[in-house]
Amino acid sequence: MKTSGGSEAEKRAAGESAAEAVEDGMVVGLGTGSTAAHAIRAIGRKVDAGLDVRGVPTSFQSRELAKEVGVPLAGLDEVSAVDLAIDGADQFSGPHLVKGGGAAHAREKIVDSAANRLLVVADPSKAADRLDHPVPVEVLPDARTTADDDVRVLGGTPTLRTAERKDGPVVTDNGNLVLDCEFGEIANPAELAADLAAIPGAVEHGLFVGMADEVHVGREDGVEVERF
Ligand code: 5RP
Repeated sequence: MKTSGGSEAEKRAAGESAAEAVEDGMVVGLGTGSTAAHAIRAIGRKVDAGLDVRGVPTSFQSRELAKEVGVPLAGLDEVSAVDLAIDGADQFSGPHLVKGGGAAHAREKIVDSAANRLLVVADPSKAADRLDHPVPVEVLPDARTTADDDVRVLGGTPTLRTAERKDGPVVTDNGNLVLDCEFGEIANPAELAADLAAIPGAVEHGLFVGMADEVHVGREDGVEVERF
C-alpha cells in the first residue's frame, strides 16, 4: 500500500477516531489509503465484537482489506443510503480536499458524495491554508494527449502518473490513466473543479470541494476534530 506524509501513529489515531462514529446498522463508505486503512481495521474489530455494519469499498485495496478484517461488504447499488464515509486526503483546507494519491478518487467521489456524512482522516502534514497539491485527473486512455492540452490551457502542468514496479503508466481500477496536474496555489477550488470536470474524456478529478463534514487529524498525543 502507498504511504505518505506523517507517522503511522498519527494515521492510526485519525483512523481509529473516525471509526468511533460507526454505529450498529450503518452502511459505511470505506475509503482508500494508509490512513483510511486504520479506520477499516478498527471497524473490523468492532464487527468482531458484534457490530452489524455493511461497508461500501472505494477501491480494490479497501475491498481486499475489508474482506481480510471481516467487514461485510455491499455495492453502492445494493444499499438505499450510505450513513457515513471515512476517507483519507492528500491535502485539506477546511472542508476542501485534494484526493487521488492512490488513483482511487473516481470511486471515492461517488461513495463519499453519496454519504450523509464524510469523515476525513489525516495526519498533520495534510493540512494547508490554501490547497496547492497537484490535482489528479483520471482520463480515458484515448483522451491522454487532448486532456493534457486542455489542462495546460487552464494553466496547469500535467504529468502522466507512472507506475512503481511496472513499466509504463498507472492504470486505475477503472482501466484509465491519471494526469497529476500542478496548478500552484488554487485560489478558487470550485471554479477549477468545474473547469476540470468539463474536459472531454476526464472521468473524474481529485478536487473534493466543500465535501468534508469532519476532519480527524491524528497526532502523536491525540486527535483534533474539525467540524464544518
Ligand atoms: C486515494 C486517496 C487517499 O485517501 C489519499 O491518497 C491519502 O492517502 P494516505 O492516507 O495513504 O496518505 O485519495 O485515492
